[in-house]
Amino acid sequence: MRYEAMWRDLLPIGHVSGGGHRRFSWTAADRECRAWFTEEAHRRGLTLEQDRNGNLFAWWDVPGGAARRDAVLTGSHLDSVPDGGAFDGPLGVVSALAAIDLLRERGVAPARPLGVAVFAEEEGARFGVACLGSRLLTGAIDPVRARGLRDGDGVTWADAMAADGHDPEAIGPDPDLLAGIGCFVELHVEQGRALQTPVGVASAIWPHGRWRFDFTGQGNHAGTTLLPDRRDPMLPFAHTVLAARDAAARHEAVATMGKVRVTPNGVNAIPSAVQAWLDTRAPDDAAVRATVADIRAAAEKAAGEHGVGVTLAEESYTEVVDFRTELRDRLVTTLGGAPVLPTGAGHDAGILSAHVPTAMLFVRNPTGVSHAPEEHAETGDCLAGVEALAAVLENLITS
Ligand code: GLV
Ligand code: MN
Ligand code: MN
Repeated sequence: MRYEAMWRDLLPIGHVSGGGHRRFSWTAADRECRAWFTEEAHRRGLTLEQDRNGNLFAWWDVPGGAARRDAVLTGSHLDSVPDGGAFDGPLGVVSALAAIDLLRERGVAPARPLGVAVFAEEEGARFGVACLGSRLLTGAIDPVRARGLRDGDGVTWADAMAADGHDPEAIGPDPDLLAGIGCFVELHVEQGRALQTPVGVASAIWPHGRWRFDFTGQGNHAGTTLLPDRRDPMLPFAHTVLAARDAAARHEAVATMGKVRVTPNGVNAIPSAVQAWLDTRAPDDAAVRATVADIRAAAEKAAGEHGVGVTLAEESYTEVVDFRTELRDRLVTTLGGAPVLPTGAGHDAGILSAHVPTAMLFVRNPTGVSHAPEEHAETGDCLAGVEALAAVLENLITS
């Protein structure tokens, strides 16, 4: 098994000073990640394919090369958030390849094709919509909208994809590919402090979404504009950040404003505009909706008080995912009764679950930190994760 070697090769890709990773879609780091995956697939004699949406698949086909039907799919993603940890995504991909190594060492012969997926733009860190690759594959996003999504420099998904040699006109739902997938099992580092044993099984993914506030005021001089004359969008924005915290506490939700763009962003100028993104999640849809409604009302009130315009746009929403399925029970039984826990993090497994039986394995994270460089999993736990995934995959591909 090449677990440690794979990890060592992957770790420097997109690593930035300060400790985190920046692996954004269709950038040099993303190309390096894809090249790494291609090499690992070829090393194992797996058939490497890229679909029309930028997702990669490495297939271990059944002997005889029959058409891919009822395939077992595993894997995760290799892109990251800005300054993200090393494990979110890559752990699922590396573990999948390592699990194949284990199965082969043990002489397991697949009766169903086994694929390892690397889904594109899972974090939505560059183009704003999380799980974009799996949303396109399953038809959960209009390809016209996806082509027009822009990064912070105004580059569209279509142009970024084309610059990397892929045809953006071809993106969109792929019912044939989807029809060949019998089930999907994603292994992922746990992203909070909820898991006390090396490996657990997902029960649910909280509903979650992203919204963009646009506050529009009047740019002006920081020294000469008297306080009553100002229409400063920073003020209702600041009020909205605090209101988000209060609303989240009221509705037993979480709300985060982690990205903001100030125009023109000068120290001696009152801003003319503030764009700010809200991420809200909760155990149920009603709590998410109530939280966002409260935050919106607070933003509109504060904007009105400061003579500032405000609009709110929903950029993406994912409904609650309940993994209470036969597949989840099969995982728990195969692993001899692993703990079952929900997560507030989003995953491609959540998108695929509307189309194929889907389950998730979690590997313990002792820091409880994720989307930051301190995200961690001990090697012993990761190897337990590989063993668990191998056991689950063996159970699935041999029956
Ligand atoms: C992705 O990891 C998310 O939960 O936003
Ligand atoms: Mn993530
Ligand atoms: Mn992830």
